[in-house]
Amino acid sequence: MTTTTQGFGIDIGGSGIKGAPVDLTRGEFAAERIRIDTPDESTPGNVIAVALEVLEQFGWTGPFGCTFPGIVHHGVIRSAANVDKSWIGVDLEKELTERTGQQATILNDADSAGVAEDRFGAAADVDGLVIVTTLGTGIGSAVLHNGVLLPNTEFGHLHLPHHHHEAEKYAAASVREDHDLSWEEWAERLQEFYAHLEFIFSPDLFVVGGGVSKKADKYLHLLDLATPIVPAGLRNDGGIIGAALTAAERSR
Ligand code: BGC
Repeated sequence: MTTTTQGFGIDIGGSGIKGAPVDLTRGEFAAERIRIDTPDESTPGNVIAVALEVLEQFGWTGPFGCTFPGIVHHGVIRSAANVDKSWIGVDLEKELTERTGQQATILNDADSAGVAEDRFGAAADVDGLVIVTTLGTGIGSAVLHNGVLLPNTEFGHLHLPHHHHEAEKYAAASVREDHDLSWEEWAERLQEFYAHLEFIFSPDLFVVGGGVSKKADKYLHLLDLATPIVPAGLRNDGGIIGAALTAAERSR
């Protein structure tokens, strides 16, 4: 394989910062990924230092993509629900481009997973409207129509009918763990979330990502929806893969 078919992706999460070179033709890691714990104080300075370390460990040169678990508007961070609030207003794209001398492309973590699922994962053969959700500490979302991403949808912050809280405070995977919910109890909450999205958007497919997508057989069959709902094909690797793809497409 030549290096021209490779890209590089970094996935910044609330608990870990992961990165790997990506085979852009196959949509898979070109080498084993590395993961470093997100610093307890997840400030821009601390997290950027870890992202740079990930790049250095692979000696990566060339354009690269990097996800962030919040709104990313033209490279600038506009929300930080599950990381240090001092991120808001940081131009991460400019910062990483200047610090590395390589073109960085920043995108929302769920948007990145959505792009990867659409090209190489569970939505690869599906036309029309695809909604990818990631269930983790929060809930992330990506909307793609015939492969075109509508960025920063933030469905985890929807207020569901009859609830005072945002959807992610009620139905994220972390809520199931923190409140010791059974799979059935959690599925009832997911039902409300997905039924609401289904009514508003009439999607052709829901894809469920995040770490808990590995255990999809415990809860997806309990949902009663007209829309097909399937686990992510790329599991939790979509963030890295989608970031690498997006960065490479931009630099073409
Ligand atoms: C953030 C989203 C993010 C999701 C998953 C939410 O709290 O607002 O931007 O995609 O968590 O990390």
